[in-house]
Amino acid sequence: MEKTNKFKYLTDELIQKINYYLNKFPKKEQVIIPSLHEILYVYRDIPFEAIEELSEYLDIPLARIEDVVTFYDMFRHRKNAKNHIRICRNLPCHLGKYRNLLKQIEKLTGAEVDGHSADGLWYIELVECIGSCAIAPAFLINDDLYDGSKIKSEEDLKKILEKYISENSGEL
Ligand code: FES
Repeated sequence: MEKTNKFKYLTDELIQKINYYLNKFPKKEQVIIPSLHEILYVYRDIPFEAIEELSEYLDIPLARIEDVVTFYDMFRHRKNAKNHIRICRNLPCHLGKYRNLLKQIEKLTGAEVDGHSADGLWYIELVECIGSCAIAPAFLINDDLYDGSKIKSEEDLKKILEKYISENSGEL
């Protein structure tokens, strides 16, 4: 279906959903979070340009929307890395030695916490509980959940990471 609006990231479907929230909620500000969820659902990320477009469409200052994005872990920018690794740092995962896991992941990907790897493949972030304390230390790669306690060696971790490496980018 041909796009009828002027935005690049806000597709017609997204605009439809945002309009739905605009009709549903009495205040425009209340539309920010559900709209960001919709954007996240489509792009698996919150592209900065999408925030700019949302700001324009809702006529809400960009800084206000940026505040919401940076306040909630789930909305943080992925800085254009292809794969977003989120490692839980709360108590059960702390006891499960998430730091050891983090060190290994940093070593193998070349990325550091809150940063991306030079090849743009990885972005690492420490997050609050992701609701999977039974498999501490828990971590996510994009939307896939992993049980860090099952990773017994660097080889185990390598095998997992290799699944996410695009064909052209070589080996770890
Ligand atoms: S504390 Fe880490 S998943 Fe809950």
